[in-house]
Amino acid sequence: MDKKLLIGAGVALSLLFSPISQAFAAEPTTGERKQVDNIAHRGATGYAPENTIAGFDLAVDMKADYIEIDVQRSKDGELVVIHDTTVDRTTDGTGKVGDLTFDYLRSLDAGSWKGEQFAGESIPTFEEILDRYHGKVGILIELKAPELYPGMEKQVADALKARNLDNPQNEKIIIQSFNFESMKKMDQLLPKVPIGVLTSNRADTTAEALQEFSAYADWFNPSYGIVTEELVNQVHSHGMQIGSWTVRSQEAADFLFEMKVDAIITDYPDYVDPRN
Ligand code: G3P
Ligand code: CA
Repeated sequence: MDKKLLIGAGVALSLLFSPISQAFAAEPTTGERKQVDNIAHRGATGYAPENTIAGFDLAVDMKADYIEIDVQRSKDGELVVIHDTTVDRTTDGTGKVGDLTFDYLRSLDAGSWKGEQFAGESIPTFEEILDRYHGKVGILIELKAPELYPGMEKQVADALKARNLDNPQNEKIIIQSFNFESMKKMDQLLPKVPIGVLTSNRADTTAEALQEFSAYADWFNPSYGIVTEELVNQVHSHGMQIGSWTVRSQEAADFLFEMKVDAIITDYPDYVDPRN
C-alpha cells in the first residue's frame, strides 16, 4: 500500500476511536433530527381535556415519552392534578382549588368543556396518576403555585418514596416549577430525582442565573420564545438539559428541533413524533 494511503488509513482509524469522533458521532448527520423527549403537556391537550385520564391515556397511545401534570392541593390536604388555581375554566364548578374540599373537587366534570364525549372525566389525584402511569410513561410533575400550599413538597416526596420512585433507576420522573425555592426544597428532599426550573423570563438566562440553577436543577425549561441555539449551548455547558414549551404548531416544534433542545413539551405529541 502507498505510504500516503497507509498514513491516511491510520489517521482515519485513530479518529474513528478518538473522543473527538465519538463527540461528532453523537450529533445527528445532515437531514437527521436529534432524538428529543416528547412530553405531552397536561396530556394530549390538543385532542382531549387537559390534566384528565382521557388526555393522559391518549398521550400514552400517541407514544409520548412523558406526560406533564400540574399538581395542587385541596382545602383538606389531598394532592390533585389541575392547572389553574381556580376550577372555573376546566370544570363545571367555581372557586379556588385550595378553598375546595376533595369531595367537591372530585364531583366536578373536568371533561365536558372540551367536548361532550369527555363528559364525566374527573380531576385526577396525584397518587392515582403515579399508580396508573409509572413504568408505562415518564411523568413530568409540575408543582403549580406551591407558595399557596405550604408543605406540599414533602407530601409529593412522600408519595414518590412510598412507590420507590425516588431512586435513580426510576429516572423517568422529573419535578419542575416556576417557584425556584420550592425546587431547592425538592432537591433536598429527593436528591436523586431530576429537578427542573421553569421560566419565560430572559433575566433567568444569564450565565450567573444558569450557574445558580445548576446547583440544584438538572433541567432548565424555558418558554420557546426565549430559546436560542446559544442558550441551548449555555444550558448544556452548565451541565443541565433543556426542555421547552408549549408547542401548539408544527412550526414551533420544527423550531425547537432546529435549536437542538433535549425535550419538547407539546399539546400535540404528533408534531414531535408523527408515528400517530
Ligand atoms: O411544562 C411546561 C409548562 O407546563 C409550563 O406552563 O402554564 O402550562 O403550566 P403551564
Ligand atoms: Ca404545567
